[in-house]
Amino acid sequence: MITVFGSINMDLIATAERLPEPGETIAGNNFSTAAGGKGANQALAARRAGSKVAMTGAFGNDGFAEPAVALLGEAGTDLSGVKRVEAATGTALILVGGDGENMIVVVPGANGEVTAEDAEDAVRTMRAGDIMMLQLEIPAVAVEAALSAARAKGVTTILNLAPLIPDAPRLGRLADIVIANETEFERLAGRNSMNAKERENSLLRLHSETGQILIVTLGADGVIAIRDGELFRAKGLVIEPVDTVGAGDTFCGYFAASLDQGLDFEEALRRAAVAGSLACLTPGAQPAIPWGNDVAKSL
Ligand code: RIB
Repeated sequence: MITVFGSINMDLIATAERLPEPGETIAGNNFSTAAGGKGANQALAARRAGSKVAMTGAFGNDGFAEPAVALLGEAGTDLSGVKRVEAATGTALILVGGDGENMIVVVPGANGEVTAEDAEDAVRTMRAGDIMMLQLEIPAVAVEAALSAARAKGVTTILNLAPLIPDAPRLGRLADIVIANETEFERLAGRNSMNAKERENSLLRLHSETGQILIVTLGADGVIAIRDGELFRAKGLVIEPVDTVGAGDTFCGYFAASLDQGLDFEEALRRAAVAGSLACLTPGAQPAIPWGNDVAKSL
């Protein structure tokens, strides 16, 4: 069983031939809305991967609330831990350029009202051995409370260090498993612009200090991870990305589901990397998250 404690957003997505420079106005070629939020995306990915998933978080009292959780509900996610608050549902303004790269501004809204008490309530319903997955789009105080309560109960915690916030390195120390992209990992390790060898050395050093499982996603280069003193690498698929929004979340959700389903660590990394690649082939975050059988066909 996986509980995702995190954000729920409505994504407002504009695509253009290229991303604008600061201060520049350019013509776009498409606008769409889609359910998003790192927490909700990861919950949907874990669910589409075939695990039982419960989502804990908050949405607002507005027209974005229901569409923001519609795909989660359709997929059979337990939404009883999602509270409605007197605020706007979280929104993300997303620009996608022709090469699939993106820029995102997130306005937290209701996500900012997730509390330490919500964290404790969520953990209370969990059992030792369950998995709790978190990100950094809800208040740090709530993330910290969840990580502490989960540790006390023997719940395995996976923290995705996204988006990068000042508290990320401190919170990262409290999780059993940390998933970061290259930039987030550099912040965790306290070094900028690492090459591959420096990244490997930093993984070894941090792991020897904390004993944590550390996973660094490397985009088209796949993923590198360390567990029990051993380095692992996995590749995704060779693709032409259409839109990379939600690819990291798909990786996280599939990784959590693969652990939940008892897959070997290396297989879990590969399955998650392949799912992340497939998520880049369709626009939008949640609409692009692949189903387990499509991932299985691509392994
Ligand atoms: O990781 C992608 C997500 O980041 C988007 O769905 C958007 O909501 C932002 O939270």
